[in-house]
Amino acid sequence: MTTPNPSKEAFERIQSAFKGLQTVQVVYLGLELGLFDALKRDAHTPESLAAAKALHLPYVRVWMQTAVAFGILAFADGVYRLAPGMETVLLDTDHPRYVGGFARGFLTFLADDFGLYPDAFRDGRVLGFGDHGEAFSEWVSKLTHPMQRLVVAKLLPEHVGEALQTGIDVLDVGCGAGQFLFKLAAQYPNCRFTGIDGDPHGIVLARRASTEKGLSDRITFRHVYGQDMTYQDQFDLVVMFEVLHELPVSVRPGVMSAVYRALRPGGLLFILDETWSDDPRLLSQPEFQMSVLVQFSELVWGNVVYTESEQTRLLHDAGFETIRGDLGGTFTILTARK
Ligand SMILES: C[S@@+](CC[C@H](N)C(=O)[O-])C[C@H]1O[C@@H](n2cnc3c(N)ncnc32)[C@H](O)[C@@H]1O
Repeated sequence: MTTPNPSKEAFERIQSAFKGLQTVQVVYLGLELGLFDALKRDAHTPESLAAAKALHLPYVRVWMQTAVAFGILAFADGVYRLAPGMETVLLDTDHPRYVGGFARGFLTFLADDFGLYPDAFRDGRVLGFGDHGEAFSEWVSKLTHPMQRLVVAKLLPEHVGEALQTGIDVLDVGCGAGQFLFKLAAQYPNCRFTGIDGDPHGIVLARRASTEKGLSDRITFRHVYGQDMTYQDQFDLVVMFEVLHELPVSVRPGVMSAVYRALRPGGLLFILDETWSDDPRLLSQPEFQMSVLVQFSELVWGNVVYTESEQTRLLHDAGFETIRGDLGGTFTILTARK
């Protein structure tokens, strides 16, 4: 029997975390410098890759060797290739397992945010979602894109059924740059859509894209906070995609009441979000992985991921009875009827 050695285990745990951090750095460089794109097309030596991308050979060589060490590239017969599966997760922006966008954001927007943490921990300051600027709002809209595809293609039809084909009124609360509504509009030509968001950058991006896509007559985008909406019995479906945990806690009851009012009797509320656990021991379980990632990296945005009982109480107090589901054991789906 081996004797437990806590300091050895602690050391190994933290040391392997550095590997994780460096893996993200290697991925970030590969995306930023177009190295993965080049390796997707052809196998390369350091010399051929450095020449193809006009980069400094010694640095490129170490990048490639490090990427092999982390299992991102494979090395055989004197050349380097993307390791199996990497093209999907790093380059296929439509795939539900795409994480390239996360890697980029972690070393740019979220790294900047993290610089605020020591002061924020002292004074509780918040840098809200909408205070980050247009490039940030656009980055977020790309992160949610693959999951939105899945929801539009599979989950919403399961919940809403035929009515989507016939034509209903849909409201997206916290629509961001509008990508979810664009997907719905493409799939369901008979529906009418409204998107609202408190982030002015998201609404600018959404209106611009809507004009470019020729959808302005079918989708209305409004710069309004959820708690200030005054719709009354106007919508058959309200969606909130990765929005609940982003609402400032103080306005959550107001937003949910406004959503309830906005729905027609019998209308459906569809929420996709994360769920927290008050028992920190459970947070190491795979089903909370996304929740931990989101809660810790969005702390300074003022975001709070609610527990199951907090979610249920919030919706119940607004008049809803909720039905819970989950998506791959990672995301929570909450549906409710008025
Ligand atoms: C993670 S983003 C998701 C955006 C979009 N649903 C998507 O899937 O890309 C969360 C959005 O919630 C919006 N939001 C936060 N608080 C809000 C409020 N009180 N009223 C309306 N929108 C709000 C933010 O501005 C942001 O656009």
